[in-house]
Amino acid sequence: MKGRGDEQREGAAKSGEHGHLGRSDTRGPSKVPSRLVTDRMFRYLQRVNLLVQQLKAAIAELAKRKGLHGARVLDLGCAAGRTAFDCAAAAPGSLVLGIDGNLALLRLARRAATRGEVAYGRRRIGLVYDHRRFPAVLPGRERVDFWACDAAALPFAPGRADLVLALNLLDCVPDPVGLLHAMAAALRPGGALLLATPFDWAARATPAAHWIGGHSQRGDGRGAAEPLLLALLSGTHDRSVPGLAVAGVGEHAWHTRLHDRSMVLYQTHLAAAYKSTSIERDGQDVLKK
Ligand SMILES: C[S@@+](CC[C@H](N)C(=O)[O-])C[C@H]1O[C@@H](n2cnc3c(N)ncnc32)[C@H](O)[C@@H]1O
Repeated sequence: MKGRGDEQREGAAKSGEHGHLGRSDTRGPSKVPSRLVTDRMFRYLQRVNLLVQQLKAAIAELAKRKGLHGARVLDLGCAAGRTAFDCAAAAPGSLVLGIDGNLALLRLARRAATRGEVAYGRRRIGLVYDHRRFPAVLPGRERVDFWACDAAALPFAPGRADLVLALNLLDCVPDPVGLLHAMAAALRPGGALLLATPFDWAARATPAAHWIGGHSQRGDGRGAAEPLLLALLSGTHDRSVPGLAVAGVGEHAWHTRLHDRSMVLYQTHLAAAYKSTSIERDGQDVLKK
């Protein structure tokens, strides 16, 4: 399964560096040796670190508000599992299933879940990797599992999940609107979905005709992706996902490390939506939050 920037990130995928375990490397951005980065980038990375905490806080807040104790959570495009573990820690008693198509990353995730240990090759430069292995404290890891499958074709009955996440996935799939429909189908009535996306479209991952925005500055909203996504989530677009209501939007910085001399910084757009608890016969959704 190909994602955006695959050629460039091949090494990162092998090492798990562009997954959550990489992102939350306990050394953290604030400990990046300053000789490797400019002061400006260093300050930015510190900010990124704070925003990662904010995303965790957003998940914890969702868990609190939606009463996710014992909830079923799906993390689509889970990579090495960082967010899946965060969800398990934030929502006591929850069952969390991480879904990804990358077997190497899923192996890292599964090892962390079963042994409480992170082991991977951290890319230094070119084909040079440093082997890293360390224990990871992951509260609730016994409630986390990982499956290899297509996030847009989930192999289980619809309407069961309380929370469905897709962080930095929407712009990696061939049919993003199809993914939104699959997420909504997986949710139980009253359940919530949380999307984070940098809208970093690449034709090799998503045919240009399927991009959400990003086509032309002369188009609707001057090609902006955010209003289109919100229209898709709120029933005002002809391909809208029925029965959803937008609960909130935000911004979130996200970085992915490629090697010692390369790090990509994204500004991702956050959108949370709830699935209605009932749908009228004529297809109009009735929201009861
Ligand atoms: C950019 S990474 C984001 C990883 C993680 N959610 C994060 O925010 O750090 C996208 C992940 O989605 C996975 N992926 C891409 N298309 C997929 C699909 N159709 N089904 C399942 N996983 C997919 C990739 O293997 C990759 O691990």
